[in-house]
Amino acid sequence: MPRSGRRRAPLMPLVAALLAQAALPGMAGADPLDPGGRWTANARGQAPVPPMGWNSWNAFNSDIDEAKILGSAQTLVSSGLAKAGYTRVNIDDGWWLKRRTRDGRLVIRTAQFPSARVAGGQADDTSFRPLTDRLHAMGLKAGIYSDMGRNSCGQIYTADFKNQPEGSVAEREIGLYGHVDQDIRLFFKEWGFDLIKVDGCGIRGLPADSPRVRSGLYRAFPSLIDMQSIGRTDVAAVRALYTSVADALERERPGGDYLLSLCLWGSADVRAWGKDLGNISRTSDDITPHWGRMLTNFDTAARRELYAHPGSWNDADMLFVGQGDFDEAHPTEARSHFALWAMINSPLVIGYDLRKLTPGLRAIFGNTDIIALNQDPAGNQAVIAYDSDDVQFLVKTLADGTKGVALFNRSAVPAAVTLNAGQLKFRDDAAITLTDLWTRATTRFTGKQDFTLAPHQTLIFRASGARRLADGLFLSEQPGRVNPAVDGVVARRPDPTIHHSVTAWSGTRGAGEHVQYSGWGGSRADRAVFGQVLRVGGTDYDTGLGVLAGSRLEVRNTGFRRFAAEVGMDDAAAQARGTLRFEIYGDGKLLASTDGVAFDRAARPLTADVAGVRIIELVTRATGGSTDDPAPAVWANARLLR
Ligand code: GLA
Repeated sequence: MPRSGRRRAPLMPLVAALLAQAALPGMAGADPLDPGGRWTANARGQAPVPPMGWNSWNAFNSDIDEAKILGSAQTLVSSGLAKAGYTRVNIDDGWWLKRRTRDGRLVIRTAQFPSARVAGGQADDTSFRPLTDRLHAMGLKAGIYSDMGRNSCGQIYTADFKNQPEGSVAEREIGLYGHVDQDIRLFFKEWGFDLIKVDGCGIRGLPADSPRVRSGLYRAFPSLIDMQSIGRTDVAAVRALYTSVADALERERPGGDYLLSLCLWGSADVRAWGKDLGNISRTSDDITPHWGRMLTNFDTAARRELYAHPGSWNDADMLFVGQGDFDEAHPTEARSHFALWAMINSPLVIGYDLRKLTPGLRAIFGNTDIIALNQDPAGNQAVIAYDSDDVQFLVKTLADGTKGVALFNRSAVPAAVTLNAGQLKFRDDAAITLTDLWTRATTRFTGKQDFTLAPHQTLIFRASGARRLADGLFLSEQPGRVNPAVDGVVARRPDPTIHHSVTAWSGTRGAGEHVQYSGWGGSRADRAVFGQVLRVGGTDYDTGLGVLAGSRLEVRNTGFRRFAAEVGMDDAAAQARGTLRFEIYGDGKLLASTDGVAFDRAARPLTADVAGVRIIELVTRATGGSTDDPAPAVWANARLLR
């Protein structure tokens, strides 16, 4: 959906008040690189592993009703998919009738949701409680959908939208803006929902000069988000609004029994802060059932391996398995889509009318070995071990030390590939066993193994072998325990590496797809910040963390005694002025540091005793030289040792 704003928004009173609240006393002037001694990525809500379930949007758009929702819910249970983990049933856009003006209470479309009628009540007294009770009785959880602004995506961007809210301008203001506490209480306390997806169209698509405002359909809302321009996006205001929702959830469900789904499509620099606030955070605009669009959505999340952790996952959008390029006539594409989402720890949310579920689709959704990769308790998003426009290898380190491995052919022609032991961080002189997670066939090899990938095929394996680091873990194998609390990005830029597909909403009108989705640069596992190989003083490193000067990473330690790395300025530094200082902190105390690290010098060893430390912080500071163009730096072979 093409969405652009014209003018930088003047602050609205509510947003200004939220911003003032968000500025904590005593924070002014604090150096963000100083250690905090704590893990700051989101730990609220309930998402220790990526959520799984079903959502109505890809199946029905806004043309939803109770029979469709319950039909899919019943199939989740009867087919065994609920047992396999798909327990969340999420109602997307299309459920609102209006917001009644006398008390601001939201009213459900009872024509579509008959159980929402309150017996003996007035016509506009409605409740989703009977529906959520039924879902809960089936062992499922229930999710609801809203928007951060006054109006929803469907109202703003879709001309032929079914089930549009009705009534006056005020009655059609069904979004959260100005009603956060009231609506969150209604959804979570009164109606018993367990999840909320909060879209952002209402704070993006209704500037005063937009046709729908001009025609009197909706009230204007100054655009806080410009998808094409981070400079014209009010990141702080967007963040303050979403923070108000997270806080309201915490108040209504102090036990943390809820899930907050952020839907900002990678805009508003959400990569940097969504992980501190939400349980899942969309990285791109909507997926469609096309191969090219699946590539786009995959790419927006695949290089953000350090920005996802237990409690806060990258959301590449819902699965389109079952439709279009991923229907039963295209099992290779359907399996690839599913395998890739599992590997990058994206939520596994089915977007198919499950009343039509076939054994073939059931076999894809229900592949318990692949689900187990996604649901692994270590929570490590796969790291890209081999990268190209045609073929990618993804490797995901599991809690038991084995690996999930995906060999992905993006192209439309067969690809001959070779997998090396080193790409798995396994020893190349000991046997490696791969189990194919679709066929259960096993392959044993030492050193390297050849494969031929069919067009669009993803081979997906569980791999075991002798770990290269026998007495510990490389941090780049453990993105789930590394949080770039400050990633050092000063110039927020769109990511140029994302596949540019023809979108369903603009077709080939205009100049073509361009770079967007701010999130270029920042911390990476086994790569330099802009995608190069890690390289210090002419030496390549296949293992380590690539960071920017001016960064602070938090690392969860669970019983390891030593931290070690070789540190240096990355050869990718274009402006080789100044020097770097590397610091290791343990629970807020400085443990080790090295100063005066200059360009084109060999990496220096830096180690610290971390026995008993819970949070290690790795700080890279620029000392001298410009901080406008921070140098890329390397924590090569960064590792935790027993
Ligand atoms: C946006 C979201 C979608 C869906 C629709 C509903 O486009 O990104 O996932 O919720 O709104 O209108």
